[in-house]
Parts: sequence; structure tokens; C-alpha cells
Amino acid sequence: MTFWITALYLLSANFLLKGYLADSAASNTGARDNKGTEFILTFTENLQRDEHDAKLQAVGTTQTPATVTVEAPAVGFTTTFNVSFGEVKTVDLPRVAVELRGSGVQDKGIHVTASEEITVYGVFTESATSDAFLALPTDVLGTEHFASCSPPSGSFPSQIGVVGTDDGTTVSIVPKQGVTFDGLAYAAGQTITVTLDRLQCLQLQSDGDLTGSHITSDKSVAVFSGNLFVTVGNGRSGSGDHIVEMVPPVDTWGRQFVTVPLKKRTAGDVFRVIAARDNTQVRPC
Ligand SMILES: *[C@@H]1O[C@H](CO)[C@@H](O)[C@H](O)[C@H]1NC(C)=O
Repeated sequence: MTFWITALYLLSANFLLKGYLADSAASNTGARDNKGTEFILTFTENLQRDEHDAKLQAVGTTQTPATVTVEAPAVGFTTTFNVSFGEVKTVDLPRVAVELRGSGVQDKGIHVTASEEITVYGVFTESATSDAFLALPTDVLGTEHFASCSPPSGSFPSQIGVVGTDDGTTVSIVPKQGVTFDGLAYAAGQTITVTLDRLQCLQLQSDGDLTGSHITSDKSVAVFSGNLFVTVGNGRSGSGDHIVEMVPPVDTWGRQFVTVPLKKRTAGDVFRVIAARDNTQVRPC
């Protein structure tokens, strides 16, 4: 089968990063992989059921233990710990300080620094609505991204989160759906321009599917996308969850992808392919 769309984006940041970046990872510092000594991130909104805190997991990747500091400066949260090779340390983050809510600008940025290269995961395990993402270090962040979400279920929005890595960053978002942002209504295709400082965030939510929304910035930003809570695929009640990935910038995308079916899943897997450029030919093989 051959089909044509406008440019290739393998939907799943999960897939791209855990696959492409991990495979291409050289062990040297500075490689374009998912190991790093600095991370800037946030958590997009989840259902508020039992008010579980969001968590970060830091994994040691070097023979010399890394000293890691996690900060949420807006609330004065800071913690420092050591993590050795192959060890996983989990940090509970005060939820109200790190979870984006609604559609607007907010100070919810998290800063992670490490003396040696580590890997970091964000984990948001609310009661029966959980997801985790692979964090990308600041040395692979970029200035052009596309959101990847799922068609919303019920009144739970699809959503995009952006964190500034530098003061005075101009972020432009062209949403694929009409949205309300900071109390103003924007039509699909109308550019929303926001200035973010370092560790300042925005969240954009829509009752429609924000997949394919284009996010550009004049300095590198950290981008997240997914859905607050959504049922993917068969729509079966009780199968919904929070979904989120940290989105790889366009300049890290690739041309070949390998997928492994989930064991025991007979209904097939769901893929979404998003185009960055016109006239990109996509061929399953
Ligand atoms: C981390 O390890 C160093 C070297 O062993 C030690 O001096 C330091 O106190 C440790 N820091 C923490 C937060 O445990």
C-alpha cells in the first residue's frame, strides 16, 4: 500500500525517542540522545481524582554517580540526591506546583540538573488515569514542533504544553482547532503568539483534536502534547487514560521506523502519521 500525505511525522514521541534516539545514542556527552545533564519540563493536566502527585524518575547512566537537583522554582521546591549507574530514583513533585491547568500561561516549569548524564521520565499516576513520558534533555530541544494528540473523549480536552528555556522567548502556535487561550477566542489556523520566560509555561486545550498544530519559537522550548483523559481506539468504556509525550523537535525526526505489536493485542495497533513538509511520501513496508 502506498499513500501520500504532507510530510512525515511519526506520531509517537514515545516511539521516536525511545526508538530513534536511544538507538542512535553514542555514549559521549553531547550526543543527540535522551541522556543529558539538564532537563526542563512540566506536566500537562490530568484528571483530579485522588490528587496523586506527579513524579520524576532519574536513572544513572555513568560509572560515576550523578548528583541530581530537581527544582520547581515558582514554589521554592528543591531536592538533591545521588543516583548511581542503573539506579532509579523517584521524586514526588507537589502537584499543584507542576501540573498545568486550563488554557493559559502559568509558572509550572521544572528544572533538573545533574553532574553526570542521566535519563529522566515524567510519571503521572492518578487513579485509573496514568501515563509517563521520556524527558528530552535541553541539548536536543528545538524551535519547531507539531502536536500529537487523540480525538477527545467527552468533555476532556486534547492539549499542548510548552515551557520556555530562555527569557523573552516568542512562541507561535497555529492550532488545528478553535481554542480559547487566556480568555481570548482563536479560530483554527489563527496564530497565537505568546512570550515565555525561562521555566514559564503555557497550556493550550481544545475540545477538538489538536494533532498537527504547529508550534514555532525563536529559542528552544520544551513541548508536550496529548489528552487530559481519552479513550483511544475501540471507545470501550473503562479503557480511558491520560496520555502525554514530550514532543521531539522536527530536526530530530527520521525516515524509517520499526514497530513491535503488543503481545495478545488482536485488534491491531493505532498509528498516526503527521506531516511536517508538503509532498512527503509515506510507505508502510
Ligand atoms: C552525593 O555523593 C557525594 C560523594 O559521595 C557526597 O559527598 C554527597 O553528600 C552526596 N549527596 C547527597 C545529596 O547524598
